[in-house]
Amino acid sequence: MAERLSLTAQSPVAMASSLSSAASSLLLSSTSTAAKISLSSFSSSASSLSTSSSLKCLRTSTLISHHLPNLKRSSVVVRNGGFSTVASPKSAASDPDQLKSAREDIKELLKSTFCHPILVRLGWHDSGTYNKNIEEFPQRGGANGSLRFEVELNHAANAGLVNALKLIQSIKDKYSAVTYADLFQLASATAIEEAGGPKIPMKYGRVDVSGPEQCPEEGRLPAAGPPSPADHLREVFYRMGLNDKDIVALSGAHTLGRSRPERSGWGKPETKYTKNGPGAPGGQSWTAQWLKFDNSYFKDIKERRDEDLLVLPTDAVLFEDPSFKVYAEKYAEDQELFFKDYAEAHAKLSNLGAKFDPPEGLVIADSPTGATPEKFVAAEYSSGKVVTMKNLFLHFAIVQFFLHFICVKNSYGATCAYANCLFSQLFMICCRIKKTSIMFFLCRGY
Ligand code: HEM
Repeated sequence: MAERLSLTAQSPVAMASSLSSAASSLLLSSTSTAAKISLSSFSSSASSLSTSSSLKCLRTSTLISHHLPNLKRSSVVVRNGGFSTVASPKSAASDPDQLKSAREDIKELLKSTFCHPILVRLGWHDSGTYNKNIEEFPQRGGANGSLRFEVELNHAANAGLVNALKLIQSIKDKYSAVTYADLFQLASATAIEEAGGPKIPMKYGRVDVSGPEQCPEEGRLPAAGPPSPADHLREVFYRMGLNDKDIVALSGAHTLGRSRPERSGWGKPETKYTKNGPGAPGGQSWTAQWLKFDNSYFKDIKERRDEDLLVLPTDAVLFEDPSFKVYAEKYAEDQELFFKDYAEAHAKLSNLGAKFDPPEGLVIADSPTGATPEKFVAAEYSSGKVVTMKNLFLHFAIVQFFLHFICVKNSYGATCAYANCLFSQLFMICCRIKKTSIMFFLCRGY
């Protein structure tokens, strides 16, 4: 049942404190399925703070910082005994400057948590509910931010995605003038690009659904092991208005990430490629370097040489169905073509069902020159650590110190032992880069 609270405030400070207490009472009344704070004359873009049963973290301070910028944008006029907003100029669903800053924060998040795959899946599962046969927003589903609500997160197909939401919630809190719908798609496209994938021609300005009652019904996303995978994929993706080429190209997103039996029921609990993370260890990946976006998904499915790599029935069918196969073969051979088609299909997917404000959408500029993101290389995917010059130097210095100490202390064959130590350290550094256990064996005596 929706609960509405009307607040009046004497001044912005008083208003903030009212918001603060409202937030606290909302937290306390978490049993209500859809609690809304409606500030009677709040701006159109921030007219209601829908918390409902979403996982949105309603910390008091966050709530205030979250909405004060919106108040600024909608020209708050403070009057004796109350406040109201003047008819505010129509603003876009998301603010372009905040979108750009949010993108930089997402890049930092990716660098520190390696959450590229789950962010891609988040974006896809928000937009992939689209039904082209339904005209009305938001009943048609699609990229509308509905996946933030618990009711939708609880759909079986979305198992585990609550973790993605938790990861980006602080970014949402920081940039109140970015909608969830935009943030999900921004996070997904940024993750692809930062993993070494193509630049996606994205636009923004997606409007959010306002409550959990606007979530799509369960069952619109594809299953991984249906009786007839090709028919099933066509049924689901054609309903979204996509075609065979899109199906094959988009499936290539499985070049990133893992499947976990405890989430989807698919995949091994762990493999040699996933047992050490990065991120939470475990699961089964489709590719060896599952944090690098390239065409290895198609090569690996075609060759099927490694039992540690996953092939779902819906992946396998890409090389079995005659129409899918044409594209899958090409993508296995030609990464450039795959990147081109993937970028187009991903952009299409990210726009499905979205209502844009402004209607034509917003394009945000690329990162400023000079600050081009370093492409993520999953060189250390099996150890969960990134090899940097700093890491290597530290490693070298620490080992050097201890080995030198041992050699001098034992004072036998010091020069020879010392030289050996140096070689062994080089080996150890190689081990960290190449993950070759034989090398590790060679130098472990030191
Ligand atoms: C073609 C139909 C598809 C099926 C049947 C399917 C199925 C699955 C399954 C079962 C998982 C494992 C989830 C888990 O256990 O955590 C998964 C993960 C994933 N899917 Fe799909 N998927 C499909 C299409 C797509 C598309 C179109 C994209 C993106 C454009 C995508 C991106 C991903 C990513 C990145 C992961 C890894 C998530 C992680 O590591 O946390 N998938 N998918």
